[in-house]
Amino acid sequence: MKILVTGNLGYVGPVVVEWFHTHKPESVIVGYDLGFYKNCITMDLQKNDKFLPDVQIFEDIRNIEKKFLEGFDAVIHLAAVSNDPMGKIFHDATFEINYKGTVRLAKLAKEAGVKSFVFASSCSVYGFSGTEARTETSEVMPLTTYAESKILSEEFLRTLADENFIVTALRFSTAAGMSCRLRLDLVLNDFVYAAITNGVVKILSDGTPWRPLINVKDMARAIEWATEREHSNGGAFVAVNIGSNDSNYQVINLANAVAQLIPGTRIDINKNAAPDKRSYKVNFDLFKKLAPNHQNQVSLEETIFELKHGIENLGLRNMQKVASDLIRLNVLQNLLSTNKIDSGLHWRH
Ligand SMILES: NC(=O)c1ccc[n+]([C@@H]2O[C@H](COP(=O)([O-])OP(=O)(O)OC[C@H]3O[C@@H](n4cnc5c(N)ncnc54)[C@H](O)[C@@H]3O)[C@@H](O)[C@H]2O)c1
Repeated sequence: MKILVTGNLGYVGPVVVEWFHTHKPESVIVGYDLGFYKNCITMDLQKNDKFLPDVQIFEDIRNIEKKFLEGFDAVIHLAAVSNDPMGKIFHDATFEINYKGTVRLAKLAKEAGVKSFVFASSCSVYGFSGTEARTETSEVMPLTTYAESKILSEEFLRTLADENFIVTALRFSTAAGMSCRLRLDLVLNDFVYAAITNGVVKILSDGTPWRPLINVKDMARAIEWATEREHSNGGAFVAVNIGSNDSNYQVINLANAVAQLIPGTRIDINKNAAPDKRSYKVNFDLFKKLAPNHQNQVSLEETIFELKHGIENLGLRNMQKVASDLIRLNVLQNLLSTNKIDSGLHWRH
């Protein structure tokens, strides 16, 4: 199988590449990324080449051509401006890349004869759910540009899918866990890093918001399922929540779990914080029904230990320097202020 992975130089991408090299060694993987975080790495990739695709292309998905897509069996589309704070500051670029870029890529992939299109969507499309877990048929409530870009893309993909172009929109839980391109702007990753370096986990909200959580390896496991999904299993288009029913946590529970596993950690709750509007509990029954052999395997405890081990291996001396490279908004703002990119997130050459 020849597979294109867009956004492979992000947090999730390398874990997906490694997954396919390990579990589907016959696959040929082509990575396609414009490289915003090219140098934000936490290990020597020459010594860890399992994270590298067979071919790497440095390009912008906004410019992708049909000719390039010919010959691929599947596209795993991860490239995006990938969180709420970046979506707020780079509003137009988020819409251009996440929505218009997806439309262009998917249309051309279909014309080029690609059979399977996997779209990285997000449970954040539910926005606020109260205490009732949201299913795929629940009303969505995108509260941010990022979430809006994901739901608009899904709506378009639904119209494009047919028996010869199978589309799976994976509404991922919040990711956590180790990657050779670790991110510290994700709730659990941030908590473990803070516990190790400062001994204090700071909760910016009152701790009550709900978030479903998933280990990055389990994301890759779900992606494998989606690339192979047949029309008879869910239809030409399906949007499916990716996670498990026992992995819906309140933020305070995550902090408590970190404090329990990393002794000496203190939790600092911001009692004056305005209520976080984004709080969603999610139901994952459909994923269980469609993909019984690709369910989550990595527990919260294992994820915390994996992060602890990975972060400790960075070496305390380098941590501060490394950390600033691991917050995506910092990296983009740094590229902008040094004139390397423009506000539309294009490289200035
Ligand atoms: N990490 C999570 O918690 C999470 C949860 C739900 C969904 N997702 C989705 O999964 C996908 C991967 O997430 P991630 O955490 O690895 O994101 P990331 O920001 O770490 O990586 C995204 C990659 O896309 C690349 N990219 C951005 N714009 C591009 C463009 N125009 N052309 C080519 N490449 C471009 C970036 O350079 C980056 O390497 C994203 O679509 C994200 O929205 C992530």
